[in-house]
Amino acid sequence: MLKGKFIVLDGPDGCGKSTQTRMLSECIANQGVDVASYRDPGTTLVGEKIRNILLDVAHEGMGDNVEVLLYMAARAQLWKEHIAPDLAAGKCVLMDRWLSSTCAYQGFAGGFGVEKVIQIATDSLERIWPDLTVILDVDAETAAARMQRDLDRMEQKGDAYHAKVREGFLKLPDIEPTVKVVDARKTVEQVHKDILKLII
Ligand code: TMP
Repeated sequence: MLKGKFIVLDGPDGCGKSTQTRMLSECIANQGVDVASYRDPGTTLVGEKIRNILLDVAHEGMGDNVEVLLYMAARAQLWKEHIAPDLAAGKCVLMDRWLSSTCAYQGFAGGFGVEKVIQIATDSLERIWPDLTVILDVDAETAAARMQRDLDRMEQKGDAYHAKVREGFLKLPDIEPTVKVVDARKTVEQVHKDILKLII
């Protein structure tokens, strides 16, 4: 059932999606399904360079429109090099972030416009929505407690921006029915179980 499926875990910074992506990937592999797991932005040579440009704290003047184009460029490369061939080979592709992030961060929080983000995605990507996007929802306090490290340029954007990011994520199921929300304030094991309920 999971062969050839395209699944995304997404959510605000500090939502725990990297841990959950790892746990889910192991769980899918244990069922005998070939699974590939990637991070967006990044993974490809081009994508990792774009990621560094996006997250570099020296680039504080970067516009939301520039962010949209760079995130989309990294994603287009990832699709071409990995996701498209993997799906065609029947693998399950599990992504740490995807278009849902551009909608919530740049489209909603940054004010660029969610519809405009989706239009640019439609023009730049062969496929925009995965089979399932799971948003791991957390409040600001829980997220902050999980981010005990130096903050990158996006993470430094401040509380008001990040409150809007969360709001943007929570609006996505109204726009796209394959987007589902899981309460990620629960324990790591409980969140994992809640994600599995959506998948298996
Ligand atoms: P990561 O650290 O979770 O890999 O994500 C990198 C940062 O980039 C994170 O703060 C979220 C942000 N981001 C966007 O603003 N727009 C996007 O489209 C994506 C994929 C990530």
